[in-house]
Amino acid sequence: TGAITMDPGYKNSGSCKSEITFLDGEEGILRYRGYSIEDLAEKSNFLEVSYLLIFGELPKAAELEKFETDIRKYTLVNEEMKNIIDGFPKNAHPMGVLASLTSALTAFNPKSVNVANEKDMYEAVCKTMGKFLVIATWTYRKNMGFPLNYYDNTKGYVENFMRLMFELPTGPYKNNPVVINALDKLFILHADHEQNCSTSTVRMVGSSHAGLFASISAGVSALWGPLHGGANQAVLEMLEEIQANGGDADKYLAKAKDKEDPFRLMGFGHRVYKNFDPRAKIIKKAADEVLATLGVDDPILTIAKKLEESALQDEYFKSRNLYPNVDFYSGIIYRALGIPTEMFTVLFAIGRLPGWIAQWKEMRINKEPIGRPRQIYTGAPLRPFVNAENR
Ligand code: CMC
Repeated sequence: TGAITMDPGYKNSGSCKSEITFLDGEEGILRYRGYSIEDLAEKSNFLEVSYLLIFGELPKAAELEKFETDIRKYTLVNEEMKNIIDGFPKNAHPMGVLASLTSALTAFNPKSVNVANEKDMYEAVCKTMGKFLVIATWTYRKNMGFPLNYYDNTKGYVENFMRLMFELPTGPYKNNPVVINALDKLFILHADHEQNCSTSTVRMVGSSHAGLFASISAGVSALWGPLHGGANQAVLEMLEEIQANGGDADKYLAKAKDKEDPFRLMGFGHRVYKNFDPRAKIIKKAADEVLATLGVDDPILTIAKKLEESALQDEYFKSRNLYPNVDFYSGIIYRALGIPTEMFTVLFAIGRLPGWIAQWKEMRINKEPIGRPRQIYTGAPLRPFVNAENR
């Protein structure tokens, strides 16, 4: 079989060729389909960026309008899905519920997608974008014991997220454009990141020709881990803990540096970015703006800034090129917008959805082979079977 090259964590292995996202870790550059993340965050909106990632070009005005209308058509979720939600304990983590519900969608949408057929693929894209948003918010409604909401066709996609989450029978959710704009920007910044853990998972699962919902459900589970998307929740919990313990950021820096202590500074470090994470730069600025505009004075932000400042001057972090990543400041904005901490990673998933879809589609259209890494066996050599009574 020839020599096997070991590369645990695929640190130096490419798994595919892709036209979707360009990332230069040394220079801190991120582009979707050739457009800089700075430009997109400033001038575009989430649905437009989703279209760009999935279909390769920015939509014309009519195409964007059609895309939004077509997504709306699929925002109704089968009533039987509610029985599945009811089966979860009330305090179940929203990411676990989201992965299960996404997987359950396969039961109601069993038709496999003919990726070569543009109409079929387009319909699958709209269906996934429509239903995923609604079930993502249902994970929160379930936790709160609130009745489940439906999409409001008179409102935009991102605004619907807030409505679906927070509108109660007792009164309408009050729209705040500052909040919607901030969320829109955050979703754009999370929309794709080439072959990260969850995206590679989506491609890997899809490489066996498993369906779109099944592949995305696997992506949700991969994203949940604290080393990946789960870091946004972990960052906020870490900052709250520092605050509760008197605000001593240096103590936590020392813990993160201690090799005997498994603690890591959450929201710091990145596999690919070795100078800075361009998304973190945009988010840090947005956090300042959002908090100022909403008039929120959050002591957690002060702790985060102090922690960042100390880490950036520290030899341990400097020598390892550890910088704040996308998750370091996003939670502070989410918190200011009234999003509960347990929902942070769900918001990451909503943002990452178009990236997962685009990568799944590209993988299938390029007819990539089934993903199947090799290994080097290090277990016991051949040994004779021993009957239970003689063990
Ligand atoms: N705190 C303390 N030390 C760290 C950290 C950290 N956050 N991150 C890396 N290191 C150290 C690590 O111990 C190692 O030290 P040494 O060379 O002495 O053994 C060195 O830096 C290299 O780390 P690594 O674990 O080999 O790097 P990796 O590329 O495998 O891991 C990472 C990247 C993002 C998983 C890691 O930096 C980490 O665990 N960060 C904290 C979790 C986090 O913020 N994740 C979000 C990532 S960005 C968004 C996303 O992907 O969802």
